Amino acid sequence: MTFLFNSDARRGAVFADAFAEALPDVPFTMDAATVDPGTVRYLITWTVPADLDRYRNLEVLFSIGAGVDQFQLDLVPAHVKVVRMVEAGIVRMMQEYAALAVLTLHRNMPSYAAQQRMRQWRPLPQIQATERRVGILGLGMLAQAVLERLQPFGFALAGWSRRPRALAGIACHHGEAGLKAMLRTTDILVCLLPLTDETRGFLDAALFSKLPAGAALVHVGRGPQLDHDALLAALDSGQLSGAVIDVTDPEPLPEDHPFWLHPQIVLTPHIASVTQAATAARAVVENMQRLRAGLDPIGLVDRTRGY
Ligand code: NDP
Ligand code: OXD
Repeated sequence: MTFLFNSDARRGAVFADAFAEALPDVPFTMDAATVDPGTVRYLITWTVPADLDRYRNLEVLFSIGAGVDQFQLDLVPAHVKVVRMVEAGIVRMMQEYAALAVLTLHRNMPSYAAQQRMRQWRPLPQIQATERRVGILGLGMLAQAVLERLQPFGFALAGWSRRPRALAGIACHHGEAGLKAMLRTTDILVCLLPLTDETRGFLDAALFSKLPAGAALVHVGRGPQLDHDALLAALDSGQLSGAVIDVTDPEPLPEDHPFWLHPQIVLTPHIASVTQAATAARAVVENMQRLRAGLDPIGLVDRTRGY
């Protein structure tokens, strides 16, 4: 019942120590070349290896990241449990990034950066956070943590999910009608949806047109959710006033892509949140213990929903 770690060696060493301490009877290896594939029951990886069918006794496929869209799930046998990464380090980093991005837009930082380059000392009108409406697409683990971090600033907060949710102090919306209602009343829209067939291309011209004119976007979901041309057109027309973009399609962007130098776009290279070795190792050890106890692992993916 070997656990195969298929990711970077630095994080692997931390996992190896955690397994040796908490699960000494589980053989742990980072060496796919020498492991007997028939003994591998657990695999952690970013992408599904092309030779997955070697691991004929595989029971659980762990993602080293929070998303599982990089897995081609149709290549994974139906009985294999797929588990996304749910760990405190990812959550903390996403809270930091999303708060930074929302505050950047709320306080007009892209305009001040442009003014600085032109040596202009010019205060812009500023509204209070209590008058700024922030809406999050997604109300899952990360969105909820971000909302909690934004709450003390006093923003008017809302979120949208597939199923109905109730969260204290948050206007919770769901379904088609709920989406329209939230967009109508959102000044800063944050995308924290997983990439699925339903959310591919979701951030498009039709969606932007439902926001109040001059709204802004923070995109920290997945690159293929955003229609780049639609974002550029919305910025040009003034329908959107700015965007903080952490994920694109492709990654990295080609050198001549208009996002690089766009004055209203703050672009970062998919760094909003990164799996942290120590906290992730603890989370995976805990999941192994849950599996042994006959419980579902935390972060178990619903294969029919795709997240
Ligand atoms: P969760 O699975 O916990 O939450 C997903 C949320 O999205 C849920 O609220 C779900 O609704 C909602 N949702 C999914 N599909 C739809 C839909 N079609 N319509 C309406 N709502 C929908 O995910 P996490 O919060 O853990 O992560 C979200 C995503 O963030 C990841 O999948 C990944 O793509 C991205 N991410 C980006 C990182 C970065 O560095 N940029 C780092 C880490 C993650 P419901 O509650 O009803 O199920
Ligand atoms: C993740 C990511 O899914 O880095 O963890 O985006």
